[in-house]
Amino acid sequence: MTLTPKRAQDSLIQMTELVLPNDTNTFGNLMGGRLMYWMDIAAALACMKHCSAPVVTASVDNISFENPIKLGNVVHIESKVSRAFNTSMEVHMRVWGEDPVQQYRYKSNEAFMTFVALDPNGNSRPVPGIITDTEEEKKLYEGALRRRQLRLILGGKMKPEDADELKALFFEKI
Ligand SMILES: CC(C)(COP(=O)(O)OP(=O)(O)OC[C@H]1O[C@@H](n2cnc3c(N)ncnc32)[C@H](O)[C@@H]1OP(=O)(O)O)[C@@H](O)C(=O)NCCC(=O)NCCS
Repeated sequence: MTLTPKRAQDSLIQMTELVLPNDTNTFGNLMGGRLMYWMDIAAALACMKHCSAPVVTASVDNISFENPIKLGNVVHIESKVSRAFNTSMEVHMRVWGEDPVQQYRYKSNEAFMTFVALDPNGNSRPVPGIITDTEEEKKLYEGALRRRQLRLILGGKMKPEDADELKALFFEKI
């Protein structure tokens, strides 16, 4: 059965959190682990919105924290499904901090996570495809195949010699 594809934009989740003392390290900055916890939830919500099923986190790509988010600042997380495969979905996330008093926003980080949809028996189940509208959505969609191959190689699920998209990228650059 082929599922009807859905728009990437319809999976968008915007999460807002306030950094409280229990969320910070000894420097008064938001702890990375707390931020990843919020990101995991925002990403899972986007996937559930897309596939209308429970999901589990399959993998998290590398996350670089560009700027610390201070105690009392606001965290904004935007997550959107960038591509759906068979039973898995890649989610793109953007994170900003905001100083609510001085009223400015600053970028914290960007990341990709992958989720798998499950049926009531806990087995992976098919998900609808993604329809892209904006240039940015199209770019993320195109790059998703390469990112998928890289994470499957790192996860021991694919042989490097089978990663055609990745190999093409390197040959293009040479
Ligand atoms: C993620 C999980 C469902 C994959 O199960 P599996 O038996 O390896 O499943 P399969 O090999 O059939 O793959 C299922 C999908 O997962 C994807 N997948 C598996 N490992 C992956 C990885 N390391 N990174 C990205 N995707 C991965 C596969 O590509 C496949 O996607 P596709 O159907 O779109 O091609 C399973 O490993 C699991 O339940 N892990 C624990 C999840 C968890 O507890 N997360 C944290 C709490 S939510």
